Amino acid sequence: MINIAFDYKQALAFVGETEISLFEKETALHRKNIYNRTGAGHDYLGWVDLPGQVSEELIQSIETTAARLRAIADVVVVVGIGGSYLGSRAIIEALSEPFPAHNAKAAQIVFAGHHLDEDYLHDLLAWLDDKRYAVIVISKSGTTTEPAIAFRLLKAHLELKTGVSEAASRIIAITDASKGALKQLADSQSYTTYEIPDDVGGRYSVLTAVGLLPIAVAGFDIRKLLSGALSMAEFLRNEDKLSRHPAALYAVLRNILYRKGRNTEILTSYKPSLYYLAEWWKQLFGESEGKEGKGIFPASVSFTTDLHSMGQYIQEGHRNIFETVLWVEKDKRQLNIPEDSSDLDGLNYLSGERIGFVNKMAMRGTMMAHLEGGVPNMAINLPEINEQNLGELIYFFEMACAISGYILGVNPFDQPGVEAYKKKMFGLLGKPGY
Ligand code: PA5
Repeated sequence: MINIAFDYKQALAFVGETEISLFEKETALHRKNIYNRTGAGHDYLGWVDLPGQVSEELIQSIETTAARLRAIADVVVVVGIGGSYLGSRAIIEALSEPFPAHNAKAAQIVFAGHHLDEDYLHDLLAWLDDKRYAVIVISKSGTTTEPAIAFRLLKAHLELKTGVSEAASRIIAITDASKGALKQLADSQSYTTYEIPDDVGGRYSVLTAVGLLPIAVAGFDIRKLLSGALSMAEFLRNEDKLSRHPAALYAVLRNILYRKGRNTEILTSYKPSLYYLAEWWKQLFGESEGKEGKGIFPASVSFTTDLHSMGQYIQEGHRNIFETVLWVEKDKRQLNIPEDSSDLDGLNYLSGERIGFVNKMAMRGTMMAHLEGGVPNMAINLPEINEQNLGELIYFFEMACAISGYILGVNPFDQPGVEAYKKKMFGLLGKPGY
């Protein structure tokens, strides 16, 4: 059984059940192509069986390395961008406490290599001056500019601080199994190294060492994350009927709405800790579907914060949007609204209520208002945030994205457009050959 549920009843004013059922055969074909590795981009379908295929040996090795890094470092800098960054950040931020205890056991994770801001990198190095730290550098190609620059700086900083040999023991490389600049460097410096499987693309790599090592270093249970992903993988594999297959249903609903002019999807969450999960989701869907002049534009908002900024547009702006709400039923903590004798703020009608109850009514009220305002909405419900449920969610979105891309008629596993800015930038920078 799976814990998360997909609910699209609020979209039914815009999409008929008959329209959905017309996709029964087509989604069956796409699912067959995914499992048999016969569809477009089939060389990159390694993620399909990943949850059940991560070996005990690899899990143990990651856990051992994570424990070692936590013992020798108070801070671990995770260097990477795109698919080599967003998955681990999404899970770590979702599971982390907003105000970690001073004596927290896990190492503090900070990120670098995900942009080219000189001030950030300068201040990071200055901040690291008096810290015990280690570096996890992640790049499949080993040549991506942003992480390569950040790593060059960090490597030099760490070597100066600790000496070359100690620095080498504090650097972990996650890269291609056999080729690339980072692989070469890691071999020459004898860094502990983990491989990114050839058949898993960046945005589908969170359940490889790319995501698992940083998540384990942050102190979270990667076995439960994998177990959640496996539950979802098995559930989806065994479910033939479209009406009971949440990932295929989500993919179908998105495509029907897209064909009706809804070319922007807004992923909405009501917990700030899910901000980076939405960022990961945006890369997954944006990079997979936005090509050949097609694709739903993936946007995200964090409610109720953004109801006070983007709320106006969503309620009354251009009607080309639909909304997918990521709702978490149970909060980890309990906090009730206190009674106030003056009641100047008029909140006494809520005294004794949990904040989470108010948040839930905000979510329900917003969905009702958006529906009335002409915004189809759907919901993905998680009972609570934990490793198991996040594992389920990751796999749910990965499978939904693959099916959705196939319905759209694109190869969801390539990203040819990502090269365009690089070529222009390299030309401007005077890189040899450009
Ligand atoms: O999904 C992708 O393929 C990209 O986002 C890459 O992950 C990103 O460009 C980083 O590439 P690399 O891991 O080669 O440094």
